[in-house]
Amino acid sequence: MHNDQLIQSALNEVEECSSVECLEAKRVKFFGKNGLITKELKSLSKLPLEQKKELGEKLNKFKNQFFLIVENKKSIIESKEINLKLARDFLDSSLPARENNYFEAKIHPINQTINEIVSILGSMGLTFEEGPDIEDDFHNFSALNIPEDHPARQMHDTFYLKSTKTDSYVLRTHTSPVQIRALKKMQIPLGIFAPGRTYRCDSDITHTPMFHQVEGLVVDKDINFANLKWFVEKFCKIFFNKKDLKLRFRPSYFPFTEPSAEVDINYSYSSGKIILGKGSKWMEILGCGMVHPEVFKMSGVDSSVTGFAFGMGIERLSMLKYGMPDLRDFFEGDLKWLEHYGFSFFEETDLSWR
Ligand code: PHE
Repeated sequence: MHNDQLIQSALNEVEECSSVECLEAKRVKFFGKNGLITKELKSLSKLPLEQKKELGEKLNKFKNQFFLIVENKKSIIESKEINLKLARDFLDSSLPARENNYFEAKIHPINQTINEIVSILGSMGLTFEEGPDIEDDFHNFSALNIPEDHPARQMHDTFYLKSTKTDSYVLRTHTSPVQIRALKKMQIPLGIFAPGRTYRCDSDITHTPMFHQVEGLVVDKDINFANLKWFVEKFCKIFFNKKDLKLRFRPSYFPFTEPSAEVDINYSYSSGKIILGKGSKWMEILGCGMVHPEVFKMSGVDSSVTGFAFGMGIERLSMLKYGMPDLRDFFEGDLKWLEHYGFSFFEETDLSWR
């Protein structure tokens, strides 16, 4: 009778449980090491054989029943808890996104301008080349006919880097060293362009310590200045999308070209906007000329060939085309400026989708 009561109360107690913790507590209470039923099972050995057999069977049967109930209840409770959690954490994917948090990423005008230049020069038959930002003295100066004592070295406001015993290094002051690299590794005839970063220790309204240039080099048996003039004019007309663009070729001097010229573009300002091909203002956009025979010699190229080269300022081209008034803003990292002057990744400007 005592055992029947015990069994009944165990059944009642597990039945009342509504949590996994409660079930565990009941298991310990009845079947743990010192559990009430465990104790009964342990004392079986003291009973006479007949009773031992009867009670043993009963208790063991109950043990199986008890654990079955506990397991069942446990899985019911757990699935209830999961459902509750799912209901609580329900994500309503139809809710609108938070307002004012939306900033469309833009392409920086420099990247946009480089992309345009790459596609125009590529269509004009030149191939892409590049050289390192950290350049050695030979490629940046000596091979370009600028020996150590040459006054042109002062023109360049160079950032010098630590030198080794055999070499001295600089941050390249122009993209012209890529001319040397191309001449050394490529076959003539060749036509290449090389956009990239350039550095000069100079900072004011029209200069930043880091800026971008694109170099062009065309070499063949009989390239002449007329070819250069045609090429530059053609490029500018396509780039600015303007047939009646006014360019001015001004005689100039570069140690690595002879003859040399600088090219200015005609523009005017009208109510804060840049108008090309009109007015009295001129902006210098590039330096160019016929490759100096010394450059061919320094690059190991047979000097029976001729070639033209040019180096354009990418920021200048971008400012004239897209109307930014101040060069320094390009590198301020101001998101408002980028939002205004930057370019969309997508053709459509309307990105709303709700
Ligand atoms: N490297 C020159 C500069 O930075 C530009 C240039 C390139 C001139 C090629 C002539 C030929 O000013």
